[in-house]
Amino acid sequence: MKKLFIFAGFLTLSLFISCTKSIEQQGVSIDTRWRFTTGDDPAWAMPAFDDSAWDSIDPKEIWESQGRSDYDGYAWYRIRVFFSSSWIENAIIKDSLQLILGKIDDCDQIFVNGELIGENGKNLKGRDESNAEFYKEQGKWNLERRYILGVHDPRIHWDKENIIAVRCFDQGGAGGMFGKNFEISMTGLKDYVKFDVISDPFTLKGENMITKNFSILNQSGTMDFKGKLLVKVIRCDNGISVYSEESAIDLTRNLSIDKSVVFKKEFTIPAVLKISFIESNSGNMITEDVEIPYILTPPTPPEPRINGAKVFGVRPWSPFLFKVAATGRPPLKYSASGLPDGLKIDPKNGLITGALKKKGEHLVMVTVENDLGFNERELKIIVGDVISLTPPMGWNSWNCWGLSVSDKKVRQSADAMKSSGLIDHGWSYVNIDDGWEDTHDKDGNILPNDKFPDMKELCNYIHSLGLKIGIYSSPGPKTCGGYEGSYMFEANDAQNYASWGIDYLKYDWCSYGNIAPKPTPEQMKYPYKEMKHAIRKANRDIHYSLCQYGMGDVWTWGAEVDGNSWRTTGDITDTWESLSEIGFNQYKCSPYSAPGRWNDPDMLVVGWVGWGPALHYTRLTPNEQYTHITLWSLLAAPLLIGCDLEQLDVFTMNLLTNDEVLTVNQDPLGKQAIQVRKTDEFEIWARKLEDGSVAVGLFNKTTKPLYIPVEMKELELDGKYSMRDLWSQTDLGKVRGHFEMKTPPHGARLVTLKGL
Ligand code: GAL
Repeated sequence: MKKLFIFAGFLTLSLFISCTKSIEQQGVSIDTRWRFTTGDDPAWAMPAFDDSAWDSIDPKEIWESQGRSDYDGYAWYRIRVFFSSSWIENAIIKDSLQLILGKIDDCDQIFVNGELIGENGKNLKGRDESNAEFYKEQGKWNLERRYILGVHDPRIHWDKENIIAVRCFDQGGAGGMFGKNFEISMTGLKDYVKFDVISDPFTLKGENMITKNFSILNQSGTMDFKGKLLVKVIRCDNGISVYSEESAIDLTRNLSIDKSVVFKKEFTIPAVLKISFIESNSGNMITEDVEIPYILTPPTPPEPRINGAKVFGVRPWSPFLFKVAATGRPPLKYSASGLPDGLKIDPKNGLITGALKKKGEHLVMVTVENDLGFNERELKIIVGDVISLTPPMGWNSWNCWGLSVSDKKVRQSADAMKSSGLIDHGWSYVNIDDGWEDTHDKDGNILPNDKFPDMKELCNYIHSLGLKIGIYSSPGPKTCGGYEGSYMFEANDAQNYASWGIDYLKYDWCSYGNIAPKPTPEQMKYPYKEMKHAIRKANRDIHYSLCQYGMGDVWTWGAEVDGNSWRTTGDITDTWESLSEIGFNQYKCSPYSAPGRWNDPDMLVVGWVGWGPALHYTRLTPNEQYTHITLWSLLAAPLLIGCDLEQLDVFTMNLLTNDEVLTVNQDPLGKQAIQVRKTDEFEIWARKLEDGSVAVGLFNKTTKPLYIPVEMKELELDGKYSMRDLWSQTDLGKVRGHFEMKTPPHGARLVTLKGL
């Protein structure tokens, strides 16, 4: 089997901690042997209670998935554990014992031998500190439960059996214990000394210089640690260390030390930053490996090149606005031959405007020139009933600004979309999410709040840049953020939007749940049909984006209510768990995607995100971000950037401006990729493209580099194909039968196969 190159010798990029003593010597795993019952009784905390009649349960999974599908309220878990004093002897740090109990949805009290030791993730000295209303506390469901006890705590019985009882309360939805980590062990270096490698992203500057700020923190309130800090940069292609630095470090209790490393490394070569602390007395070491961003997208050439959508849909009489996206050394000159009557192109910025009266199709030849030459490409204009014939590409305020969005932030984002050059790669929508609304006036007009002084003026401004503008509302009386919704004002709102010049509406179920608490399929469709009629009457092309988190398999009926896209899931966040869970579950909607009818797995979580005024750099690793954009492109998903566009860094631009990758997303055939193969370790997805070639995505779900094998038969391909790597935009030669590609941890490869 011919091995295709790429990233030979990738290292394990996941965080790993190495300690000389294993958990068996210093503690015990408690991820099995638990007993469980629903209900509530204080006697269940007591060691004397006999729980042998209780059921056994897996603490790693919520109780709903273990036969208690509709249960909300109190429930108890119990386990018996022998605490061996040899754990103390074997430990380096001999003063504390920790109980790690996964996560608990929603609230918990923990008893050891009948004594209360903690509550909702907080250690307690005893029952007097207990909060009788502990069960009302919200938002703790995703918090890792780690309770610490001093080794001399009288509530612990050394060299005897101890009874651990967990009293849970679930307020609705998923309930009980779940997660990955369940152990009782002596605390070690790794529990006190932590690296913060996330708060500050890598910065990439000229001459391949990379800077990384991080901090090292001693969380212990009683112990100081002395040792060595070792920082290395190791290339993933050959395992060679290209930078190394060693310094003595004193970690006084509760102290955090900031560090900065500056090193030289080719931006195109994957590498890891390995940070280690070696404690002098014990020789114990903790290490963290951090992926360094690497750029795959080649620089944009100075010659003119037309990018973006090749097909554009418009309804008769609707205002026409299409920007020819093109890159190349300025100034660029735009022209078009075969434009139907009613349309004109601006030679300076490539904006095609006007209106078309009759249904029909037009093939237009667009040309872009500069002093280095010209590029021409066909644009198909379809005047008909369906719009958004390729997935919308743009920006939305939610994942960065949350409810703090304002007119100013929207203008700044639009300016940045233009000045960064994103607009030249086909990015066009600037969408305001929740947080702009005030009330309806006496005539039923929706009024924006103080943060948006003049919506019409804002729309004009966005359009003047060659961009489009979107807005947000809910079919319920209130939006999810508690602002005014469209309930009973659908027609007025649609008229207002159209009169301002809105091009996109995200319509979010939210408080409609109070109107239809257990909606039938018809009730689910009803509010979306109402708004559909309202929009159609308003006589303006408004992309209609349904947001109801996939309820009632919306992909099977979204087109019926005229949705141009529909959210298929709950909200995304910037973690691998969220990204992979959402992304790889899109296989069920694949058959329902078509031009103008897109499945929407939610917005992009790259760059500076934060859902509210404070932002942080995405917690996704560089490889996870490659997976994100690769998968969303194969899924023909709307691409809505969710970050602060004023803080776009080189790596994020590299992700968002690879025209060969974006071409897959924008392919006019509009066929979403299908999941060809799924194993525990990898997935293969394939998407048929308009020119007869196939785009294939290989995804590594493990934390180690992996060779992913592909059989051409499983892609329904037979014969010889030329293969191209889209991220690096290079030809990989010819393949027949099968191939395999080395794929980085949590990373992706994206190729096209074209018949020869
Ligand atoms: C959620 C929606 C988010 C965002 C938010 C605004 O329901 O899924 O994407 O729009 O509401 O409140």
